[in-house]
Amino acid sequence: MVKVLLINASPHKNGNTAQLLQRAMDGAEEMGAETEMINLYDRNLNYKGCMSCFACKVRGGKKGICFFKDDLQPVLAKAIDADVLICGSPNYCSYPTASLRAFVERLIFPMVNYSDYSKPIVLKPKHSATIYTMNCPNMEMYKANNFDILMDSNAKTLAMMCPTEILYSFDTYQFNDYSRYDADNFDAEHKKHIHETQFPKDLQAAYELGKRLVKQAE
Ligand SMILES: Cc1cc2nc3c(=O)[nH]c(=O)nc-3n(C[C@H](O)[C@H](O)[C@H](O)COP(=O)(O)O)c2cc1C
Repeated sequence: MVKVLLINASPHKNGNTAQLLQRAMDGAEEMGAETEMINLYDRNLNYKGCMSCFACKVRGGKKGICFFKDDLQPVLAKAIDADVLICGSPNYCSYPTASLRAFVERLIFPMVNYSDYSKPIVLKPKHSATIYTMNCPNMEMYKANNFDILMDSNAKTLAMMCPTEILYSFDTYQFNDYSRYDADNFDAEHKKHIHETQFPKDLQAAYELGKRLVKQAE
Protein backbone atom coordinates (compact mmCIF):
# COMPACT_ATOMS: atom_id res chain seq x y z
CA MET A 1 0.00 0.00 0.00
CA VAL A 2 1.29 3.47 -0.91
CA LYS A 3 2.29 5.46 2.19
CA VAL A 4 1.64 9.19 2.11
CA LEU A 5 3.06 11.62 4.68
CA LEU A 6 1.74 15.18 4.81
CA ILE A 7 3.69 17.87 6.65
CA ASN A 8 1.83 20.97 7.80
CA ALA A 9 4.35 23.74 8.38
CA SER A 10 1.73 26.32 9.40
CA PRO A 11 0.97 27.03 13.05
CA HIS A 12 -2.74 26.81 12.16
CA LYS A 13 -4.14 23.30 12.29
CA ASN A 14 -7.18 24.32 10.29
CA GLY A 15 -5.81 27.25 8.29
CA ASN A 16 -5.46 27.58 4.55
CA THR A 17 -2.41 25.33 4.34
CA ALA A 18 -3.91 22.62 6.55
CA GLN A 19 -7.17 22.63 4.58
CA LEU A 20 -5.31 22.16 1.30
CA LEU A 21 -3.19 19.38 2.81
CA GLN A 22 -6.36 17.76 4.14
CA ARG A 23 -7.83 17.70 0.62
CA ALA A 24 -4.60 16.22 -0.76
CA MET A 25 -4.92 13.60 1.98
CA ASP A 26 -8.55 12.93 0.98
CA GLY A 27 -7.44 12.44 -2.63
CA ALA A 28 -4.67 10.06 -1.56
CA GLU A 29 -7.09 8.07 0.61
CA GLU A 30 -9.55 7.91 -2.29
CA MET A 31 -6.78 6.06 -4.14
CA GLY A 32 -6.43 3.60 -1.27
CA ALA A 33 -3.26 5.07 0.25
CA GLU A 34 -2.27 4.94 3.90
CA THR A 35 -1.95 8.54 5.08
CA GLU A 36 -0.70 10.58 8.01
CA MET A 37 -0.52 14.33 8.59
CA ILE A 38 2.01 15.83 10.97
CA ASN A 39 1.74 19.38 12.31
CA LEU A 40 5.26 20.70 12.74
CA TYR A 41 3.99 23.34 15.19
CA ASP A 42 2.64 20.74 17.64
CA ARG A 43 3.65 21.76 21.16
CA ASN A 44 5.27 18.38 21.80
CA LEU A 45 7.37 18.56 18.64
CA ASN A 46 10.47 20.44 19.73
CA TYR A 47 13.28 20.53 17.22
CA LYS A 48 15.81 22.69 15.48
CA GLY A 49 17.35 22.59 12.02
CA CYS A 50 20.54 20.70 11.20
CA MET A 51 22.94 20.73 14.22
CA SER A 52 25.95 20.16 11.96
CA CYS A 53 27.03 17.11 14.02
CA PHE A 54 28.15 15.35 10.78
CA ALA A 55 27.04 11.95 12.14
CA CYS A 56 25.44 11.40 8.71
CA LYS A 57 28.84 11.88 7.02
CA VAL A 58 31.06 9.54 9.13
CA ARG A 59 33.15 7.19 6.95
CA GLY A 60 31.71 3.67 7.03
CA GLY A 61 28.64 4.90 8.92
CA LYS A 62 25.01 4.57 7.98
CA LYS A 63 23.96 7.20 5.47
CA GLY A 64 20.84 8.97 4.28
CA ILE A 65 19.19 9.74 7.61
CA CYS A 66 19.61 12.28 10.38
CA PHE A 67 20.98 10.84 13.63
CA PHE A 68 20.22 13.80 15.89
CA LYS A 69 17.87 12.54 18.60
CA ASP A 70 14.96 14.86 19.22
CA ASP A 71 11.23 14.99 18.52
CA LEU A 72 11.81 15.40 14.77
CA GLN A 73 13.76 12.15 14.37
CA PRO A 74 10.65 9.90 14.22
CA VAL A 75 9.04 12.35 11.77
CA LEU A 76 12.12 12.19 9.53
CA ALA A 77 12.02 8.38 9.72
CA LYS A 78 8.40 8.49 8.52
CA ALA A 79 9.32 10.93 5.74
CA ILE A 80 12.08 8.62 4.54
CA ASP A 81 9.79 5.60 4.68
CA ALA A 82 6.95 7.35 2.79
CA ASP A 83 6.28 6.77 -0.90
CA VAL A 84 4.72 10.21 -1.22
CA LEU A 85 5.73 13.32 0.74
CA ILE A 86 3.55 16.43 0.59
CA CYS A 87 4.75 19.52 2.46
CA GLY A 88 2.60 22.61 2.98
CA SER A 89 3.70 26.02 4.17
CA PRO A 90 2.45 29.59 4.24
CA ASN A 91 4.69 32.32 2.91
CA TYR A 92 6.23 34.03 5.96
CA CYS A 93 8.13 37.21 5.11
CA SER A 94 8.90 35.96 1.58
CA TYR A 95 10.03 32.46 2.55
CA PRO A 96 8.44 29.16 3.59
CA THR A 97 8.16 29.01 7.39
CA ALA A 98 11.29 28.42 9.46
CA SER A 99 9.76 25.16 10.69
CA LEU A 100 9.58 23.80 7.13
CA ARG A 101 13.10 24.99 6.40
CA ALA A 102 14.42 23.23 9.51
CA PHE A 103 12.57 20.05 8.51
CA VAL A 104 14.01 20.20 4.99
CA GLU A 105 17.56 20.78 6.30
CA ARG A 106 17.28 17.70 8.53
CA LEU A 107 15.71 15.59 5.76
CA ILE A 108 17.92 16.59 2.85
CA PHE A 109 21.42 17.23 4.28
CA PRO A 110 21.93 13.50 5.10
CA MET A 111 21.11 12.78 1.45
CA VAL A 112 23.88 15.10 0.21
CA ASN A 113 26.75 12.84 -0.80
CA TYR A 114 29.98 14.68 0.06
CA SER A 115 31.93 12.05 -1.89
CA ASP A 116 29.88 12.38 -5.07
CA TYR A 117 27.32 15.17 -5.37
CA SER A 118 25.87 13.49 -8.46
CA LYS A 119 24.72 10.50 -6.37
CA PRO A 120 22.46 11.69 -3.55
CA ILE A 121 21.79 9.04 -0.89
CA VAL A 122 18.08 8.42 -1.28
CA LEU A 123 17.08 5.38 0.77
CA LYS A 124 13.59 5.12 -0.70
CA PRO A 125 12.50 6.71 -3.99
CA LYS A 126 9.40 8.84 -3.64
CA HIS A 127 7.10 11.38 -5.22
CA SER A 128 6.59 14.74 -3.64
CA ALA A 129 4.87 18.08 -3.78
CA THR A 130 4.87 21.35 -1.90
CA ILE A 131 1.78 23.44 -1.27
CA TYR A 132 2.31 27.16 -0.70
CA THR A 133 -0.33 29.60 0.56
CA MET A 134 0.02 33.38 0.76
CA ASN A 135 -1.53 36.83 0.61
CA CYS A 136 0.26 37.52 -2.64
CA PRO A 137 -2.55 37.79 -5.20
CA ASN A 138 -1.19 35.99 -8.25
CA MET A 139 1.79 34.48 -10.08
CA GLU A 140 2.73 37.81 -11.66
CA MET A 141 3.16 39.42 -8.22
CA TYR A 142 4.79 36.22 -6.93
CA LYS A 143 7.52 36.66 -9.53
CA ALA A 144 7.70 40.45 -9.08
CA ASN A 145 8.46 39.86 -5.37
CA ASN A 146 11.13 37.25 -6.24
CA PHE A 147 9.10 34.60 -4.42
CA ASP A 148 9.80 32.27 -7.35
CA ILE A 149 13.42 32.35 -6.18
CA LEU A 150 12.92 32.62 -2.40
CA MET A 151 9.99 30.21 -2.00
CA ASP A 152 10.61 27.81 -4.86
CA SER A 153 14.25 27.19 -3.89
CA ASN A 154 13.00 25.27 -0.85
CA ALA A 155 10.98 23.00 -3.10
CA LYS A 156 14.03 22.66 -5.35
CA THR A 157 16.01 21.45 -2.35
CA LEU A 158 13.45 18.66 -2.00
CA ALA A 159 14.05 17.83 -5.66
CA MET A 160 17.40 16.36 -4.69
CA MET A 161 15.33 13.53 -3.21
CA CYS A 162 12.80 13.19 -6.03
CA PRO A 163 10.87 15.20 -8.61
CA THR A 164 8.63 17.67 -6.83
CA GLU A 165 5.75 19.83 -7.97
CA ILE A 166 4.37 23.01 -6.41
CA LEU A 167 0.75 23.96 -5.86
CA TYR A 168 0.16 27.66 -5.15
CA SER A 169 -2.83 29.14 -3.34
CA PHE A 170 -2.82 32.92 -3.71
CA ASP A 171 -4.74 35.73 -1.99
CA THR A 172 -5.75 33.58 0.98
CA TYR A 173 -8.25 34.54 3.66
CA GLN A 174 -6.03 35.53 6.58
CA PHE A 175 -8.60 36.69 9.15
CA ASN A 176 -12.14 35.51 9.80
CA ASP A 177 -13.05 39.10 10.61
CA TYR A 178 -10.94 41.73 8.82
CA SER A 179 -12.60 44.56 10.78
CA ARG A 180 -10.88 43.40 14.00
CA TYR A 181 -7.38 44.07 12.69
CA ASP A 182 -5.28 46.97 11.46
CA ALA A 183 -5.06 45.59 7.96
CA ASP A 184 -6.37 48.29 5.67
CA ASN A 185 -4.11 47.16 2.83
CA PHE A 186 -6.61 44.36 2.32
CA ASP A 187 -10.07 44.68 0.86
CA ALA A 188 -12.13 42.36 3.07
CA GLU A 189 -14.86 41.97 0.43
CA HIS A 190 -12.31 41.02 -2.21
CA LYS A 191 -10.67 38.54 0.18
CA LYS A 192 -14.07 36.98 0.95
CA HIS A 193 -14.84 36.76 -2.75
CA ILE A 194 -11.55 34.98 -3.50
CA HIS A 195 -12.13 32.68 -0.53
CA GLU A 196 -15.53 31.72 -1.91
CA THR A 197 -14.61 31.46 -5.58
CA GLN A 198 -10.90 30.62 -5.97
CA PHE A 199 -10.07 28.77 -2.75
CA PRO A 200 -12.52 25.91 -3.50
CA LYS A 201 -10.71 25.48 -6.85
CA ASP A 202 -7.38 25.32 -5.00
CA LEU A 203 -8.86 22.69 -2.67
CA GLN A 204 -9.95 20.69 -5.70
CA ALA A 205 -6.46 21.03 -7.21
CA ALA A 206 -5.01 19.75 -3.92
CA TYR A 207 -7.40 16.78 -4.00
CA GLU A 208 -6.32 15.96 -7.57
CA LEU A 209 -2.68 16.37 -6.54
CA GLY A 210 -3.09 13.80 -3.76
CA LYS A 211 -4.68 11.34 -6.17
CA ARG A 212 -2.08 11.95 -8.88
CA LEU A 213 0.92 11.45 -6.59
CA VAL A 214 -0.45 8.15 -5.28
CA LYS A 215 -1.06 6.96 -8.85
CA GLN A 216 2.53 7.88 -9.75
CA ALA A 217 3.81 5.97 -6.71
CA GLU A 218 1.82 2.78 -7.42
C1 LIG B 1 4.51 36.13 9.97
C2 LIG B 1 3.75 36.21 8.67
C3 LIG B 1 4.40 36.66 7.54
C4 LIG B 1 3.74 36.68 6.30
N1 LIG B 1 4.42 37.11 5.20
C5 LIG B 1 3.83 37.05 3.98
C6 LIG B 1 4.56 37.46 2.82
O1 LIG B 1 5.71 37.86 2.86
N2 LIG B 1 3.92 37.38 1.63
C7 LIG B 1 2.63 36.91 1.52
O2 LIG B 1 2.13 36.84 0.39
N3 LIG B 1 1.92 36.52 2.62
C8 LIG B 1 2.49 36.59 3.84
N4 LIG B 1 1.79 36.20 4.97
C9 LIG B 1 0.41 35.69 4.82
C10 LIG B 1 0.33 34.17 4.88
O3 LIG B 1 1.25 33.57 4.03
C11 LIG B 1 -1.09 33.69 4.46
O4 LIG B 1 -2.07 34.29 5.25
C12 LIG B 1 -1.17 32.17 4.55
O5 LIG B 1 -2.20 31.70 3.72
C13 LIG B 1 -1.43 31.68 5.97
O6 LIG B 1 -1.53 30.28 5.97
P1 LIG B 1 -2.32 29.49 7.12
O7 LIG B 1 -3.75 29.92 7.06
O8 LIG B 1 -2.14 28.07 6.75
O9 LIG B 1 -1.65 29.80 8.41
C14 LIG B 1 2.39 36.24 6.21
C15 LIG B 1 1.73 35.83 7.39
C16 LIG B 1 2.39 35.82 8.60
C17 LIG B 1 1.66 35.38 9.86
